[in-house]
Amino acid sequence: MKTAIIGLGYVGLPLSIQFARSGVTVLGVDIDSTKVEALNAGRSYIKHIAAESIAEVVKAKKFTATSDFRRIKEVEAVIICVPTPLNKNREPDISFIIQTGRSIAPHLQKGTLVVLESTTYPGTTDEDLREVLEAGSGLKAGTDFHLAFSPEREDPGNALSKVEHVPKVIGGFTPACLEKTRALYGHAIKTLVPVSSCRVAEATKLLENIFRGVNIALVNELKLVYGAMGIDVWEVINAAKTKPFGFMPFYPGPGLGGHCIPIDPFYLTWKAREYGQHTRFIELAGEINTAMPEYVVSRTVEALNAQRKPMNGSCVLVLGLAYKPNVDDDRESPSYVLMDLLGQKGADVAYYDPFVPVIRPTREHPHWAGTRSVTWSKETIASFDAIIIATNHQVVNYGELAEWAQCIVDTRNAMNGLAKKPGQVWKA
Ligand SMILES: NC(=O)c1ccc[n+]([C@@H]2O[C@H](COP(=O)([O-])OP(=O)(O)OC[C@H]3O[C@@H](n4cnc5c(N)ncnc54)[C@H](O)[C@@H]3O)[C@@H](O)[C@H]2O)c1
Repeated sequence: MKTAIIGLGYVGLPLSIQFARSGVTVLGVDIDSTKVEALNAGRSYIKHIAAESIAEVVKAKKFTATSDFRRIKEVEAVIICVPTPLNKNREPDISFIIQTGRSIAPHLQKGTLVVLESTTYPGTTDEDLREVLEAGSGLKAGTDFHLAFSPEREDPGNALSKVEHVPKVIGGFTPACLEKTRALYGHAIKTLVPVSSCRVAEATKLLENIFRGVNIALVNELKLVYGAMGIDVWEVINAAKTKPFGFMPFYPGPGLGGHCIPIDPFYLTWKAREYGQHTRFIELAGEINTAMPEYVVSRTVEALNAQRKPMNGSCVLVLGLAYKPNVDDDRESPSYVLMDLLGQKGADVAYYDPFVPVIRPTREHPHWAGTRSVTWSKETIASFDAIIIATNHQVVNYGELAEWAQCIVDTRNAMNGLAKKPGQVWKA
């Protein structure tokens, strides 16, 4: 069995390794030639994916990377894992999927299976992708080639979440497409969850991410409400989660980040309008979560004020640039929003993140590109008027932080029980 995996990022790369280890020959395809070169040389560009795992499958000749789409002719299946961002009007941008479809189509052979994994709105696979594949190949989906959708359930940085053990939802364009998809993933994934169509599979992924977005908004709202009552929401959640049924803990924070939760729900919002439907829960959750960085900044103003310091001219450190702990992924990170807001208020802003030593150019925050993380030392940490914990990386020594820092604004409960003096730690 030989399969191509297109888009070798946070989703495509671990999936490639899992297929290759399961005995399937994988042709990894990416338009980014630096990634292709790195992979063929056995190097990794994602912190939590070990170079050794890549070198192992390259050496075993089970994995090769390329930018040459003509090689699609060689494979029996093509899995697409390209980005699905929002455009500047916060509408779905499926151009990466469409472009990939156009690049594959001329090389598509009869009988090949094409599976889309990128998170997207219902109808992308059987309408948008199908159209470009059929137009560019002259073949018919469901008759000449197979088509399916299977959402990725990647949890970067979670050592307990292994690709092969995470049940995988699969939906085919026809029953025969579903059977082909089952056979493909059966090589690499232990449990498959077949559903009746590509659209049901697409909608399942959106439900999963909307569920997170809405529940995070709920605890973010409760953080404000309970905070005003003098009740610590973290203590409440920790107590509530002892209930053995009917409750699942979600935690507040400085706002949503990453390539999924802040973005995917709005794929549904946009598509729902076509059907005259409104997604009020999603909009409200988005509003609450988007307001979190403002709230954190307002708490920092309060914390500085208590020390008789204005925000204007104060030195503020944002601790953690990645959007979640123990990863180096800074996409959509609320830390950038925090840094922008603090800067607008006249603060002298710096950041510390052991996994992001220097900020790479981003579309949303190009002005931070090239900025370097400060170093971790008593002298540096003590020099800041306030430190905002935006991400609770495990490698950070919070005991040292308590010893060295003047004032800490904690959005992650990382300082729980560690404060060295009254008024040093402000929850936000
Ligand atoms: N990151 C996650 O945790 C996660 C989890 C579940 C689902 N997803 C979904 O998976 C999809 C991919 O996300 P990701 O995090 O892996 O993105 P990513 O940016 O890490 O990787 C995407 C890769 O696709 C490549 N690419 C872009 N256009 C291409 C093209 N036309 N042809 C070939 N390669 C191309 C890029 O160079 C990049 O290497 C998205 O739809 C995302 O929503 C992501």
